[in-house]
Amino acid sequence: MCGIIGYIGNNNAYSILIQGLKKLEYRGYDSAGIALSNGNIKVFKCQGKVADLEVYSSNQDISGKAGIGHTRWATHGEPDDKNAHPHSSMEGDFILVHNGIIENFAELKADLLKNGFLFKSDTDSEVIVNLMEYYYRQGKSTSSETAVRLALSKTKGNFAVAVMCKNDKDQIIAARRGSPLVIGIASDAYFISSDVSPVVNQINSLIYLNENDVAIITKGSLTIKTLENAPAPFKISQSEITGLELEKGNFEHWMLKEIFEQPKIISDILHDRIVHDQTGIRLDGLNSVYSKLPEASRIIIIGCGTSWHAALIGEYLIEEYARIPVEVEYASEFRYRNPILKPTDIVLAISQSGETADTIAALQMAKNSGATILGICNVFASSIVRLTDAGLFTHAGIEIGVASTKAFTAQVTLLTLLAIKLGMDRGILSAEVSQKLIQELIQVPAKINSILDNHLDIRIIAEKYKSSVNALFLGRGTLFPVALEGALKLKEISYIHAEGYAAGEMKHGPIALVDNKIPIIVIAPKDMNYLKSVNNIHEIQARKGKIIGVITKGDTDLSSLITDNFEIPEADPLVTPLLAIIPLQLFSYYVASALGCDIDQPRNLAKSVTVE
Ligand code: F6R
Repeated sequence: MCGIIGYIGNNNAYSILIQGLKKLEYRGYDSAGIALSNGNIKVFKCQGKVADLEVYSSNQDISGKAGIGHTRWATHGEPDDKNAHPHSSMEGDFILVHNGIIENFAELKADLLKNGFLFKSDTDSEVIVNLMEYYYRQGKSTSSETAVRLALSKTKGNFAVAVMCKNDKDQIIAARRGSPLVIGIASDAYFISSDVSPVVNQINSLIYLNENDVAIITKGSLTIKTLENAPAPFKISQSEITGLELEKGNFEHWMLKEIFEQPKIISDILHDRIVHDQTGIRLDGLNSVYSKLPEASRIIIIGCGTSWHAALIGEYLIEEYARIPVEVEYASEFRYRNPILKPTDIVLAISQSGETADTIAALQMAKNSGATILGICNVFASSIVRLTDAGLFTHAGIEIGVASTKAFTAQVTLLTLLAIKLGMDRGILSAEVSQKLIQELIQVPAKINSILDNHLDIRIIAEKYKSSVNALFLGRGTLFPVALEGALKLKEISYIHAEGYAAGEMKHGPIALVDNKIPIIVIAPKDMNYLKSVNNIHEIQARKGKIIGVITKGDTDLSSLITDNFEIPEADPLVTPLLAIIPLQLFSYYVASALGCDIDQPRNLAKSVTVE
């Protein structure tokens, strides 16, 4: 949440910062701003998107070879001009951009008010910048760097900050705790960024800043130390993503591009993880702890939102194929409910970003209890990756669309592989059965492609239902979490109220919603629950409900019964979640598109939820 960019080098900073902010806009987009250093430090900021900032700063002096920028997702204070970043300290000594939440800001603010400081915004961020000025002005020989470190040491909570000082115009100080920040290194410049996406094509190497580290950057030097002023070890690495992945190509939205990337991503995951002769599965990222897994008395999977839905599918699959008890919890509940945790527990966190605050806190709690903690993550060097004992990367490439699509199917693919591997290693699945299941997985990318080929049919159906006020998604077994995920996608990007339900629960309440207006999406492929789902369909039709079926291709019995259908290829139930979610992603996308919604940046949302 919130994106930070910084640049110091030989080129004009303005356009570099603006382009960077556009790439970070998925992290928050209710206001934007930049500060540029050129003799003095000028700040431009306004409510709205980066495009609004460009309009605002046009015809102004935008020269300067160093600067910091920010795109905001509001936590403290409304999304308006005064709360937009950068924030300046009262006398203008410091200018700061901040991502995160300062938990003790009220206390710090009260002290600053007593010391005569005045505030212009409602943000917690302005407290930090004023605290820097307070320390800077207290001691005659206090350097800007010392003031920054002292102020940050007094804060509780999370921050990633980039700071400029009026008296050290060719210097940027960056620091982090809890929120991500990377330093990009080019031959003639340094970059600061919340993630690698804006800088990847401009740098030779990068440093993922560690917790509580402070980087002091000038045009020709970089020093990294701890908040306590001790030298801090750091690793210079090559960026792991290619620039190619960061182009939208001919797709109108990132979300659509990411939906279409899924066959390739799943194919790559399978290629890397299925052994050459297709008789086994290798999950090398888990090697260091794997011996504990087949013997585990239980696995607890935690996550939020879409990642939690993937976790639920993991629960069904691991219990079905490996017969290990699995519990799935919202990380946000788990962390506050004093769960019973034992050192023998395996706690697996699922997270696209690896920066979700609730998931990190829940994982930390599990670690403290002595449990083995694992991760399934998409972002290298993210906080969750660094916290866990071992884990698997989804390798889905950076996900820009705020509504998660490709990360979900990549997570489910890994969980499916894990379930089969554990089943094999525990002697639950015979070699014959496991090879059949592996073959089913190998066919998934081609089957998804055949669904994507029909995207225009799905678009026609979506346009028919665009004026719906509510929608209900029903599924059974592993398709219940798919129903939840389908409903989440629709509400996130089209703002249509949607609910996902276990189809068997329909009679226990949601059936009251059925009338001749609400579309009810029933996921009813030909599997072991087929006849039960057909019963649901009859019950809805008896009440004049409108049904959209997700059905197996060639199921004429159902297609003649239901008005609208999304067909998926015939497949083993093991892989149906990976197929059934595709038409639901496309349906949501095309409904939102027909409504003219801001698909990649839906209102009120941000890509990584780094605050509680
Ligand atoms: C939904 C969505 C969110 C995330 C959730 C967890 O489309 O993107 O629900 O799934 O915020 O995020 P990660 O997976 O980054 O921990």
